[in-house]
Amino acid sequence: MAGKILLAGGAGYIGSHTYLALVAAGFEVIIFDNFVNSHPSVTERLAEINGAPVTCVTGDVRDSAALDRLFAQHDIAAVVHFAALKSVADSVKDPLGYLDNNLGGLVTLLAAMDRAGCRNLVFSSSATVYGIPDETPTPETAEHRAMNPYGRSKIMCEEVLEELAAADAGWAFGILRYFNPAGAHPSGLIGEDPKDVPNNLMPFVAKVAIGEIAQIKVFGNDYPTPDGTGVRDYIHVEDLARGHLLSLQSLLSTGQGHLVNLGTGKGQSVLDVIDAYSAACGQDLPFVFEARRPGDVPIYCAQTDLAKSVLGFETEKSLADMCESSWHWVTSQAHLTRP
Ligand code: NAD
Ligand code: WQD
Repeated sequence: MAGKILLAGGAGYIGSHTYLALVAAGFEVIIFDNFVNSHPSVTERLAEINGAPVTCVTGDVRDSAALDRLFAQHDIAAVVHFAALKSVADSVKDPLGYLDNNLGGLVTLLAAMDRAGCRNLVFSSSATVYGIPDETPTPETAEHRAMNPYGRSKIMCEEVLEELAAADAGWAFGILRYFNPAGAHPSGLIGEDPKDVPNNLMPFVAKVAIGEIAQIKVFGNDYPTPDGTGVRDYIHVEDLARGHLLSLQSLLSTGQGHLVNLGTGKGQSVLDVIDAYSAACGQDLPFVFEARRPGDVPIYCAQTDLAKSVLGFETEKSLADMCESSWHWVTSQAHLTRP
């Protein structure tokens, strides 16, 4: 395979799973990460899964000199850009920090790619750009309505990519809008492993299941949904990793960009998740209904036609698979003994 693939932020939750999918497909992959929200030990566990060493360079995508050195040392055919801060709550407290890291990081990375003549990039975007959508399932043509600095940083990043592609047809961007990733690798050696207290439902439920947190707080049971609780489009991280492989292969083979949702197209409620995780861990998980969380929408669900037609992408794994693999990860020795 001509040229290596650089995973910026590749030591994180989605990046580490995508690393395995790309290596399995025959790509030579380099991870570049500053470990602001991941553990360096993940590279040892990736090496254990693959039975081969992992090339990982520690650095910040805002460091031009570090990026120039990396592009000088390696022939990079494409970049998959995961490196961003992703907490909605934190972005409200530190909007400038989010713009600097997420938008500034992307622009610095693109400038380094430009200097190196590397013009293929897969970008991690988010359904959060839709804000409160008019329709669900939500198509890619829906209006940009982000409601927080994090979501707006993703919109701005997408606009930078749009601008660059319009100015120079030599660039090819695969923009992937993820809905709600969940689950873990079947080995139990890698999974969602945030450094801070997670805001997301699935890692919270996992912490209740292992006894770290007493009970699940269900934010609202008066939404216009079948059981009154919030509905989301949960997608297994293994399916998501395969979506990145298909996006990358499409960019490299066609030179044409694309923008697609990555989701199942099906919605699951908070109570559905609690039921599925209870079945996975073999105990009825305790929960309490609380007030709605500010900024939450009743339903987020992907329209998936474009991912299917453009990339041939369809999800294969279920909510049960997500919960079972998450439970395997949070109870694994790797998780319990990692530094
Ligand atoms: P993550 O925090 O696990 O991974 C991000 C990785 O990027 C981490 O390893 C972190 O250390 C690294 N990083 C952050 N800023 C960096 C910088 N300036 N320089 C170098 N490395 C840096 O998050 P994730 O869940 O794997 O998400 C990956 C991408 O997908 C992010 O861009 C996120 O916005 C996007 N996304 C995530 C979700 C989700 O729910 N997990 C949903 C939609 C979109
Ligand atoms: C899911 C559902 C909550 C926690 C977020 C970001 C989004 C993207 C994906 C990065 C909602 C309910 C949650 C809890 C609960 N990340 N919930 N109790 O809000 O859909 O999306 O992650 O791009 O940008 O906004 O995911 O997991 O936080 O919530 O009841 O302790 O679970 O109300 O209905 P969300 P989530």
